Amino acid sequence: MITCDLAGTRSLVTGAASGIGLATATLFARCGSRVALNDLPGNPHLAREVARLRDSGLDVIAAPGDVGDESDCEAMISDAIDELGGLDHLVNNAGTPATSIPVPPRDLDAIDEDMWLKVLSVNLVGPYRCARAASESLRQGGGAIVNTCSVAGLTGVGSSTAYAASKAGLINLTQALAKALAPEVRVNAVAPGVVDSPWECRWSEEGNQERLARVPLNRAGEPDDFAESILFLAHASYITGHTLVVDGGMTA
Ligand SMILES: NC(=O)c1ccc[n+]([C@@H]2O[C@H](COP(=O)([O-])OP(=O)(O)OC[C@H]3O[C@@H](n4cnc5c(N)ncnc54)[C@H](O)[C@@H]3O)[C@@H](O)[C@H]2O)c1
Repeated sequence: MITCDLAGTRSLVTGAASGIGLATATLFARCGSRVALNDLPGNPHLAREVARLRDSGLDVIAAPGDVGDESDCEAMISDAIDELGGLDHLVNNAGTPATSIPVPPRDLDAIDEDMWLKVLSVNLVGPYRCARAASESLRQGGGAIVNTCSVAGLTGVGSSTAYAASKAGLINLTQALAKALAPEVRVNAVAPGVVDSPWECRWSEEGNQERLARVPLNRAGEPDDFAESILFLAHASYITGHTLVVDGGMTA
């Protein structure tokens, strides 16, 4: 696990009550950053994880809010920045598949308007909302944004066509924001492959084995594997607009 000195910095991680977001918030806090953990207001894991991290001596706060809702998202960012006293790192990690089982690409009728709008609003517009609301504060300190995309955004293959398109959009948005917020703020992304997390879309046993068979490193990525890549991109001073594939070689 890589570490670096983030003492004196302030960070906000969305979708931080579990999986990659929780591992990232924990790693940033262990490195000395004061961290706000965002997740859905109704998610009981958020308060529980924040309490657990505080009990272990880490400087963290809860920042509940739905990144898929414009006013809720803006209020969440504004309140978190006020409470943290500024912002140096924004990790746009919250995401949804909006389905509990994968939707085959050929099944065009299985993705209705509601699913399209939910997936795009949370996975693509959400990071834009957060970046826009945090941009002034990030600019002041010369901060960084890291977005959690997916190899689905590169290959078109994922839990659904809508999900893959939302992540492709986020890869593109990463480049656009890198140019829009330069030179003060760097904007990068990670693209995970197979992840061992409580993600709400579950593949069949056969589907999982088929996916893992395409991973040369022969295992799913642990949340910590992605957290350290996010930490690297938050810290790497001459990288911007880049999407780092973190997939154990799956797309090589
Ligand atoms: N699990 C995978 O297979 C996989 C693969 C590639 C990329 N990703 C991406 O990684 C990121 C993290 O996923 P994970 O695997 O850690 O799953 P996870 O389910 O453990 O974490 C996702 C978190 O996001 C939160 N969230 C969902 N919608 C939200 C909203 N509107 N506002 C705020 N929080 C919200 C959830 O409550 C959850 O705590 C997501 O962006 C996902 O698209 C996951």
